[in-house]
Amino acid sequence: MQILRNARIAGVGGGVSGLLNGASIAIEDGRIAWVGLDADLPAAHSDAPTRDLEGRLVTPGLIDCHTHIVHGGDRAGEFEMRLEGASYEEIARSGHGILSTVRSTREADEEKLLALALPRVDALIAEGVTTLEIKSGYGLDVASEIRMLRVARRIGKVRRVHVVTTWLAAHALPAEYREDRVGYIREVAIAGMERAHAEGLIDAVDGFCEGMAFTRDEIATVFDRAIMLGLPVKLHAEQLSDLGGAAMAARRGALSVDHLEYLGADGIAAMAASGSVAVLLPGAFYTLRETKHPPVEALRTAGVAIALATDCNPGTSPLTSILLTMNMGATLFRMTPAECLRAVTCNAARALGLADRGVISPGAHADLAIWDIRHPAELSYRIGFNPLHARVFGGRYV
Ligand code: NIG
Ligand code: FE
Repeated sequence: MQILRNARIAGVGGGVSGLLNGASIAIEDGRIAWVGLDADLPAAHSDAPTRDLEGRLVTPGLIDCHTHIVHGGDRAGEFEMRLEGASYEEIARSGHGILSTVRSTREADEEKLLALALPRVDALIAEGVTTLEIKSGYGLDVASEIRMLRVARRIGKVRRVHVVTTWLAAHALPAEYREDRVGYIREVAIAGMERAHAEGLIDAVDGFCEGMAFTRDEIATVFDRAIMLGLPVKLHAEQLSDLGGAAMAARRGALSVDHLEYLGADGIAAMAASGSVAVLLPGAFYTLRETKHPPVEALRTAGVAIALATDCNPGTSPLTSILLTMNMGATLFRMTPAECLRAVTCNAARALGLADRGVISPGAHADLAIWDIRHPAELSYRIGFNPLHARVFGGRYV
């Protein structure tokens, strides 16, 4: 048992509007055992080792619920092409884009992929991230997709961060299957998923539903097999056009549907009915200089929970700052600072199907971020400043 006392706590029981001042958190066996006012600390805990937080703000450890952080290469050249006027879709269709990252990822062995990913992971950890989702999707053959997820699992061993893995073989069609879409879905997306699942490498299954990627029906085939294996699904949908991917995923109980700039009323209704979280990715919106906003107000009205994530990837979102992501959620998407905090704590946990984190309440993982600020709004207000004082990971102060 250990006590953190004299804290200002946001995120008690998932609510962040009510700040608890002069408060304590009791931690035991890596979990939160008790939270409340210093004065109310149960006598049974009174001789436990205690750390005075001197009035600092404490939030749940932050959760980045959508990343492609494991990959080879970079796409600075493509960035230059886009600045000269080429669109994301034109670049992708001409064999650059995702497929250029696929080439660099296939060339890299496990050690190399790990070494490339760790500095990006460290940047997130330095901003208070304690849980991180990592997708495959730049291998596009069974061995390379599996290698990406092995690296993802290793990151969770060599760093103090929980890693949640996602199988995203249905991300793009590799050149060798250009004439055989059905074969790719069957031999790589589905057969690879079965193999990776047998190795315990998959926590959820994702796809990219878009004109330049896969159709709703192609992804539905992968999802239906995933569901038979007991794996939850989520989807990149309605990023560049409305293909009805969100509704297809929601009908399959998707944990989340992500991007959503082109989401329409049917998709919103389907997500509200299924309880799928809307994961908004302002880094991709910003990088692609998208002008169509995700329907934040309609999502709110429908009661759909909103999360924010970096979408850290070399093409559309070379972003390794969860704090800047929160700032973009507020400034670009007009989310309130309180919504932005929920978006990277309790709602991000929900997007990963995890009920045991993202809140400061008894039973939750003792994963916390301690900040040198007074009010949680400062987390989304500042641009490029990191006020993290310390993290608590699994009950350990680091
Ligand atoms: O989430 N939208 C699809 N996939 C990634 C980007 C992939 C890439 O361009 O490398 C995303 O934005
Ligand atoms: Fe993505």
